[in-house]
Amino acid sequence: MQEKMKKLEKSFLSDLNNVKNAEHLEHLRNKYLSRKGLLALLFTELKDVDPTLRPQTGKALNDLKTVFHEKYQELFLSLRGRGSDKDQLDLTLQGRLPFIGRKHPLTTILDQMKMIFNAMGFRIEDGPEIETDYYNFEALNIPKNHPARDMQDTLYITEDIVLRTHTSPVQIRVMESTKPPIRIIAPGRVYRRDTPDASHSPFFHQVEGLVVDEGISFGDLKGVITSFAHKMFGPDIEVRFRPSFFPFTEPSAEYDFVCIFCRGKGCRVCKNTGWLEISGAGMVDPNVFEAVGYDPEKYTGYAFGMGVDRIAMLKYGIDDIRLFFENDMRFLSQF
Ligand code: PHE
Repeated sequence: MQEKMKKLEKSFLSDLNNVKNAEHLEHLRNKYLSRKGLLALLFTELKDVDPTLRPQTGKALNDLKTVFHEKYQELFLSLRGRGSDKDQLDLTLQGRLPFIGRKHPLTTILDQMKMIFNAMGFRIEDGPEIETDYYNFEALNIPKNHPARDMQDTLYITEDIVLRTHTSPVQIRVMESTKPPIRIIAPGRVYRRDTPDASHSPFFHQVEGLVVDEGISFGDLKGVITSFAHKMFGPDIEVRFRPSFFPFTEPSAEYDFVCIFCRGKGCRVCKNTGWLEISGAGMVDPNVFEAVGYDPEKYTGYAFGMGVDRIAMLKYGIDDIRLFFENDMRFLSQF
């Protein structure tokens, strides 16, 4: 019996030495100190000991038990103190990273556009998305029943109130409230009655530009648009203007950037034309100046539109406008 006790103590102490964490310790407790552990087993063998030796053997066994428990308790407390126990604060654990949000790709592009125009001296203006027929059409030289209204599939709220189809009404609001010189951009959301597909959405975003002063020419317009193209897409981006028609500009143009993917050679994105349509522009029509009480003999000006979604699609190589508005984290977290 004494032999067995010695052996058990030795193995207990050596096992104890190897305990590195709370899990090991629990293992040790199970092996030696539990109800079916090795120590309990020895106690069951007490009955086989010579009755004359039994009392002192029993006492020795009890002493051993006390030693085991003390040693166990000591290590238990010290492991807890080191913070290895689950209930304790473990300063060595890694912190949890907070979820960091990011900017929507359209916001990023819009920020860049604002910076570029700001640097060229443009102020930023704002206007309502719910507009009257007057600002969205009439004052822009688009009378009721004018065929040009067909160009924009309008969402009417009442006979007289619309969801703005473009940011051009902000031109009128700014000119009504300020005197020239004017040099502004007006970014914002616009609405059209379009069936959604890869290149159409019932709402999208434009940046309107308006410059009015004495002696403003079409050359100024070309300069600003070209400058923008270079800053947004690179210094070798050519810009071309094609004759077009808008009731609120005369002459009117549509402008294209050379395809940023093939640099004019022709590819899938530019449908082999080498050019990407960006938007419309032109010299402010004298009728518009008259609507806001400016003297068309004294002042000239230019205006332009710009599709924010389109520019973002080109910049990031996105081929479906709907992705911007679905709020799918798998898409958004790539930016
Ligand atoms: N508002 C026009 C559109 O949405 C674009 C434009 C703006 C054209 C300014 C000329 C001048 O299509």
